[in-house]
Amino acid sequence: MKTNVKKEEGCLKVGVLGCGIICQAGHLIGSTKARNIHLQAICDVSEALCRKMAAIYEPASVYFDYEEMLADSKVEAVIIGIGDQFHIPCARQAVLAGKHVFVEKPMGVSIEECEELRQLAREKGVFVQIGHMKRYDEGLQFAKKFKEEKLGEVTVYKGWYCDGQGRYTLTDNLMPVLYSANDMKKPAGNPKAVLDHYYLLGHGSHLFDTAMYFMGEIEEVSARYVNKGKLHSWLIDCNFADGAIGTLNLSVTIAQKWHEGCEIYGTKGTVYAKTFNPWALQSSEVECYDGEQQISITPAAHDGQVFRRELEGFADFILHGISSGAAEAGDGIQVMRALIATYQSVQEKGKWISLKEVKGAL
Ligand SMILES: NC(=O)c1ccc[n+]([C@@H]2O[C@H](COP(=O)([O-])OP(=O)(O)OC[C@H]3O[C@@H](n4cnc5c(N)ncnc54)[C@H](O)[C@@H]3O)[C@@H](O)[C@H]2O)c1
Repeated sequence: MKTNVKKEEGCLKVGVLGCGIICQAGHLIGSTKARNIHLQAICDVSEALCRKMAAIYEPASVYFDYEEMLADSKVEAVIIGIGDQFHIPCARQAVLAGKHVFVEKPMGVSIEECEELRQLAREKGVFVQIGHMKRYDEGLQFAKKFKEEKLGEVTVYKGWYCDGQGRYTLTDNLMPVLYSANDMKKPAGNPKAVLDHYYLLGHGSHLFDTAMYFMGEIEEVSARYVNKGKLHSWLIDCNFADGAIGTLNLSVTIAQKWHEGCEIYGTKGTVYAKTFNPWALQSSEVECYDGEQQISITPAAHDGQVFRRELEGFADFILHGISSGAAEAGDGIQVMRALIATYQSVQEKGKWISLKEVKGAL
């Protein structure tokens, strides 16, 4: 059927791998709404789920076998929205098939597998983008530009990501109706069995990526962790390569509403951002204080559809070489390093861990 979406000439033809939560709530809608993407194919091992999504989004082709989708010469790029443990193996297959890759965050589960993928993608000349969609929050994008142009030298970055009570009530209301099936492919075991790994990978990845989006490289971290009841909290000190110092707080689940944001103090200005649950599709509320003019600027930032915006950025780069500040493979690897360094620092009672030297998996 016809839709109200206006598409550009020469859209990027994508195949979406996975018809689970993130694809139903994010990437299938995002691909369909994106001005520069054509939903060429979808794939899921669950035939029933895949057919259900095909009925809604009407891709040109439907696959129940990933290899078959990769063999489809019309598919130029794949969007991978499957369990964390499967990210790198499936991204690797796509790169080997010569397809560009958009893979959900976290990039993978070990530093070494992520580095191998980056190397392989370089050799094959394909682009890899990680689904750190907060980089496409219009409010944060405005704040980053302001930081670069007006803040002078930065001394402190404070970031917090606190999943709140009522989160599932909120997301159930905001997301479309989610379909599931018994034959969906899930990683072995229960990923939630080791909650500190699970929360670091799932939520900590956003906290670190936002910090690095604004501040660039983190050199080392020192972390403490405490768990009481259902509340898991990390306080992570970090030293940025530019000499600024930072403190990051990851807390899941706080007895409050969703609470996420950051503050940046510069010699000539300050940035404050309040970020909303991503499914609200609402840009961060940002206040940028310009110390020279003594005024605060608050961007309107009307477009909060980060899941569409990140895919448009992906396609813009592949089609036209336009950079949109995406998290590329190197950024995904830095986030993995920061997560594993945080975990190690907690194990070693807050010892400072250098991101360059850290190895291993979560
Ligand atoms: N960016 C965000 O804010 C955000 C939010 C939620 C989830 N995520 C990420 O999205 C990813 C997916 O999470 P989810 O909850 O949607 O998973 P899910 O388990 O609900 O869905 C995954 C789907 O992929 C299919 N699948 C897996 N491997 C396959 C294969 N090799 N071939 C064909 N089909 C295959 C499964 O059958 C399943 O239907 C995770 O990495 C998660 O961290 C990101």
